[in-house]
Amino acid sequence: MIQPGPFFGRSVSVVDDLSLDEQWYLYTKTAQIKTTILQGGDLEAYRLGDKDLSVYLIFLEDSTRTKESFRNAALFHQATVSDFDAARSSVNKNESLIDTLKMLVGYSRRSIFVIRSKVEGVCRALEASIGDYCQVAGISPPSFINAGDGRHEHPSQEFLDEFSFLEHRGWKRDSLHIVLTGDLYFGRTVHSKADGLRVFHKVRVDLVAPPELGLPEFYHHKMLEAGFEVRLFTSIDNYLAQDDVADVWYFTRLQLERMGDDVLDKVSRLKHAVTVRTDHLDKLPALCKFFHPLPQNRIAPTIPDFVTPLSLNGWDEQSRNGYFTRITLIGMLSGVLGHDYLGPLSRHQLPADDFVQEVQVKPRAKSDGHKTGIKPVDDGIVIDHIGAGRQVDQVWKLLDKIRRNLQLDYLSSHGVFASVTSDVVKGLISIPDLPDLGFKKIKKLAALSPGCTLNIVRGKQVMRKYRLHMPPRIYNFAEISCRNENCISHPGQHEGVNAEFVRRGDGFVCRYCERPHTYDDIWTD
Ligand code: NCD
Repeated sequence: MIQPGPFFGRSVSVVDDLSLDEQWYLYTKTAQIKTTILQGGDLEAYRLGDKDLSVYLIFLEDSTRTKESFRNAALFHQATVSDFDAARSSVNKNESLIDTLKMLVGYSRRSIFVIRSKVEGVCRALEASIGDYCQVAGISPPSFINAGDGRHEHPSQEFLDEFSFLEHRGWKRDSLHIVLTGDLYFGRTVHSKADGLRVFHKVRVDLVAPPELGLPEFYHHKMLEAGFEVRLFTSIDNYLAQDDVADVWYFTRLQLERMGDDVLDKVSRLKHAVTVRTDHLDKLPALCKFFHPLPQNRIAPTIPDFVTPLSLNGWDEQSRNGYFTRITLIGMLSGVLGHDYLGPLSRHQLPADDFVQEVQVKPRAKSDGHKTGIKPVDDGIVIDHIGAGRQVDQVWKLLDKIRRNLQLDYLSSHGVFASVTSDVVKGLISIPDLPDLGFKKIKKLAALSPGCTLNIVRGKQVMRKYRLHMPPRIYNFAEISCRNENCISHPGQHEGVNAEFVRRGDGFVCRYCERPHTYDDIWTD
């Protein structure tokens, strides 16, 4: 093969793993491929034609369209397709997924893994751990494609959905007004919309679902942050009682298999709220289209059979588009497509560890221990401004947490005091004869008590002063854990993936499942 294209070896765990420019490339390339296939044109330029590429279909949850469209897209490229028999594999003997995949990467010169699992963040974790393993073993690192992870994301479905909307809008990207209805709580295809819809410049989203099936706050917030105009309605009836009705409707199945008993009791009421009736039809705008990732529940479909033959049916073409968009996606990640991509390449990098800021020591500053009345330090360290501004009892708790987590079992003193210059309450720990804390402890201290200062005292003078800020990433600590039991990094999953959090807005998200956490949620201790 000639030099592979710029997307060679990339993985797609979430929609945002391809930038908007890259997504747009995928859509325009798919349009060319679809036209060429439908017109019976020459497809050689789009085809990898390499049986040394292995495409593994690893479906640990059921699937029809996603799996079969990936299989056929891989066959289009003449790759070798392996259907991993999850039901009869050692996954059932409690083998970790990471160990299973380590074995499979050794069998081929190049592999793409298409993975569907209940466990969230699987592809992100595999990308890191298998990537490291391949480097050591001298194997070409594989690509991972998330084919749906729990209730997190479903990026390749998002690409085919957006492609279908673009077709419907005649490729006009200026605006989109869309209804999202059905199970917005569990529907991962809806969650991926918070990023995918950004391909349109002005986006209006009407969320139509009873509160039990409402969109999780995290994705709602993400949509607002992306500049979408978002309105909420509790049922299709409520929605159609007003005049401003969207012409693109996106339905999702009620994911009863994921619902707890308390919600299951109410199923018929919930279904009724998001099911189309004949009397709804004349309230829809002209040229309106219904989309659905499918499957529909044949016993109680939310888009009943009478709609199927109508021009409202956009879901059959959408389903077919799964094949075309996945041909393009595999083509991009295997390197045969992308040479004509002219935009910048998205490079997701984890933020740098910029949390320690050296501040100037005021001339003749004494160790803070002098002012506050606890034993002054001649040589050693003083940690000041701990939990500044919190209530007294909270500062005491924080002092206790810091001492325990940093194992500060030294002859030393601590206390809670009012600041000399204001009424603000703060904690202080002074440790004589300790030259420094060491990087790992400093990082932990910054994460536990952002805003505190670390003073290095020599000969009764503060020689160096550092202000510690909240680190952009919190990782490598035994005392942190993701609260989402379905996350690959949750200890209950036994995958050996260490918890890691990335700062987002005022809080943090898990690096793997992206579940939001407050800063206090992160710590198990
Ligand atoms: C969806 C899925 O699995 O997330 N289906 C699909 O991939 N086409 C939606 C669903 O299961 O209801």
